Amino acid sequence: GVPSKYDEPVSIAVIGGTGIQALSGFTLVATLDVKTPWGSPSSPISILHHLSPSTGKPIPIAFLSRHGLHHELAPHEVKNQANIAALRSLGVRTIIAFSAVGSLREEIRPRDFVVPDQVIDRTKGIRPFTFFEGGMVGHVGFGDPFDTKLAKIVNKCGHALEGENGAVTLHDKGTLICMEGPQFSTRAESHMYRSWGGSVINMSALPEAKLAREAEIAYQMICMATDYDCWRGEAGEDVNVEMVMGHMKANAENAKRFVGAVLDELSKEEHDEQVKGKHLEGQMKFAGGIT
Ligand code: ADE
Repeated sequence: GVPSKYDEPVSIAVIGGTGIQALSGFTLVATLDVKTPWGSPSSPISILHHLSPSTGKPIPIAFLSRHGLHHELAPHEVKNQANIAALRSLGVRTIIAFSAVGSLREEIRPRDFVVPDQVIDRTKGIRPFTFFEGGMVGHVGFGDPFDTKLAKIVNKCGHALEGENGAVTLHDKGTLICMEGPQFSTRAESHMYRSWGGSVINMSALPEAKLAREAEIAYQMICMATDYDCWRGEAGEDVNVEMVMGHMKANAENAKRFVGAVLDELSKEEHDEQVKGKHLEGQMKFAGGIT
């Protein structure tokens, strides 16, 4: 059996979304059932060893499947607080999160990757969305919802992949609309999001990114377009689950190469301080409460 304990701190995590329930190609060294004050995470956390190409040393990576091992959690049922708290308790300070998204722009084609730099919150307030309540008051800045330093690294890796493989197209910024779901948008909503400047749409970025910010974890989402939502308006072409799953499956190889390249880069010594979240320390400010 695989050990259920891992004693070293783990700095880097990957959260897999729809179509990425596991991360193959790495050595599985432990499977952890982590308990937190917010309950159990969406899935057991796999600790994988990734060989740093520069040092030759194994780097531990934590992997979590957002929708559960068997995709049993709907977007509004994802254990966001437990997921982020569990990763933080292992030492994680850097998260790369994957998500399938609908495209709101003609030029973002299905199977393209998008590294968003902005988010518009269209969740409905039914998901537990903060660690700061019940006597502990805190406010974090969210002007840039993703970690701009981490975004640079991710984009560099994505563009390199573009060069070596014509099958990959990367859009290195964009505004992500995070809607509640689980139903997809109406055509009127889809047009409205386009008029707001939305680039892509999903159901999973929030509150995940907000909780990561509260936990002083650098977070960047990598989106993969699976459909044109419903704004293009031709009957029979609207987004459906088969479309999303089909493109995710077809592009899983590219997603894996993308994450492999990002992990290679992050495991370089020069990124050590970044990966360990040194630039984020002290960001969380308390406004009162617990004394
Ligand atoms: N995830 C994938 N495609 C989507 C869409 N069109 N709307 C919301 N979430 C999505």
